[in-house]
Formats: sequence, C-alpha cells, structure tokens
Amino acid sequence: YKRITVKSLGEMKRNGEKISMLTAYDYTMSMILDNAGLDVMLVGDSASNTMAGHETTLPITLDQMIYHASSVVRGANRALVVVDLPFGSYQSDPKEALRSSIRIMKESGAHAIKIEGGKEIKESVKRILNAGIPVMGHLGLTPQSIYKFGSYTVRAKEEEEAEKLKSDAKLLEKMGCFAVVLEKVPAKLAKEVAESLTIPVIGIGAGNGVDGQVLVVHDMLGMTHEFNPRFLRRYANLYDVMTEAVEHYVEDVKAKDFPSDQEQY
Ligand code: KIV
Ligand code: NA
Repeated sequence: YKRITVKSLGEMKRNGEKISMLTAYDYTMSMILDNAGLDVMLVGDSASNTMAGHETTLPITLDQMIYHASSVVRGANRALVVVDLPFGSYQSDPKEALRSSIRIMKESGAHAIKIEGGKEIKESVKRILNAGIPVMGHLGLTPQSIYKFGSYTVRAKEEEEAEKLKSDAKLLEKMGCFAVVLEKVPAKLAKEVAESLTIPVIGIGAGNGVDGQVLVVHDMLGMTHEFNPRFLRRYANLYDVMTEAVEHYVEDVKAKDFPSDQEQY
C-alpha cells in the first residue's frame, strides 16, 4: 500500500472521496485498522478515558501520549498517524507547543499533530507549522475545555458561537492546517464549514455534509457499552463477545477442562 499523506487527504476531498478515521492507542489495534484499509489513525487523548479510565481527557500526559503514539506507528504501514497534543502541553506558550509537538514527532514517529482551539492558539499553530509539522485543527466540542462548557452537549447552536467556529475554521485553513475536526455541532453548520474550506473537515457527531468521519474505536466496536450518544453507530458488540469468551475461560479452568491433553507438553 502507498502511504496516506496529508496531501492525499486534500486530494480525497477534491475527488469527493470521504476520509475514514478512527482512534487507535496500541500496536495490535493499529495493525488491525491499517490492514482493514482505514485512512487516518488518531492517537486521541481519549486514551485518557478508554485506556486509563479517567473521567476526562485532562489527566493524560505528553509522555503517555508518546508511548501510545509510538505503539500505533509500529502497526501502521499505510494509514496517516495523527497525535493529539494533550492538555497542558501547549496552552501556556507557543514555544512549549512547538517543543511538545517536536517531542511527539521525534519520539513516536507519527506524521502530524492535532490541537484543540482556534484564535486562542493561533501563535502556537503558526510555530508548529513553521517547523514543518502538519497540524490538524479541532473545533466545536473540544473535550479539554469540558469544565468551561459544563457538559458534553452539542456546541455552536447559537449564532455567536457558530460565527466564531466559522471564523476559527477559516483561520486554521489560512494558517496552513491540513484538516479540521468538528466535534458535536449541528450538521447544517458543519456542512457549511466543509463547503467553505478547501481542506478536509472531518466530523464526529457533525453530520453527513463533511469530508470524513471519525469515531473512538472502542465505541464503534462496542467494547464500551454505557456511552450511547446519537452519533455513535456500533459495528460490533465486542463487550458481549469478550465477556462470553472470558466467562467461558473461567468456567473451563474451574472445571479442569482447560488445558486438555493436546494443550500441554
Ligand atoms: O481524542 C479523541 O478521540 C478525539 C476524537 C474524538 C476527534 O479527539
Ligand atoms: Na482528542
């Protein structure tokens, strides 16, 4: 397979081919997603939830993100690997944002970084781009600001926030970002943004009028089962599959059925 690049994603948008993206946090999952033909793997800071069991994305550290990212990179032969800048690794100043991005690129071998926010982080985005590091934006429901929002409800339903989102998206494109993620915003607004930008807009809970879709892999595989937002389509029910497998194993061990004569030396 030819490696997907930030350029290929732009071509996909121009050709009207939708971009497929999922999160990945480890080597085994990365291999499976890559072999299945996924375009983009996001080493999301949602690892803080899915992998570490935290309630929010805030606690995950840069070192932990780099560990996840390097594992994902080793499993990806074709997919583009994008890594989230975690909370606290870029907000205090643009130089720190660049240093964090350089660490991700150098220590994990990933291909791009993703950063939450618009105008507020303009100087950081510029600095990172100037170093030759591709940047993916992230607007709408940006989970690192959850304590500002107060809840995980749909963003930009009101005029003022919608206008800010539109101008932030334009700004990210103008600065040279290669794509923007829109999370949990009205489909009509997301479509408008996608149509007004030449770079791909990738949605999660942002409807069908955008240039690609992203989901958290544990959610779409049905490994999690208590998270049921409207935008989530489950493609498997691995929670039940895995539970049954483990119950069966426990049963077999207790019953002295495992290992059998053939399963020992
Ligand atoms: O961390 C994450 O999983 C994300 C996606 C939901 C876009 O940022
Ligand atoms: Na994220």
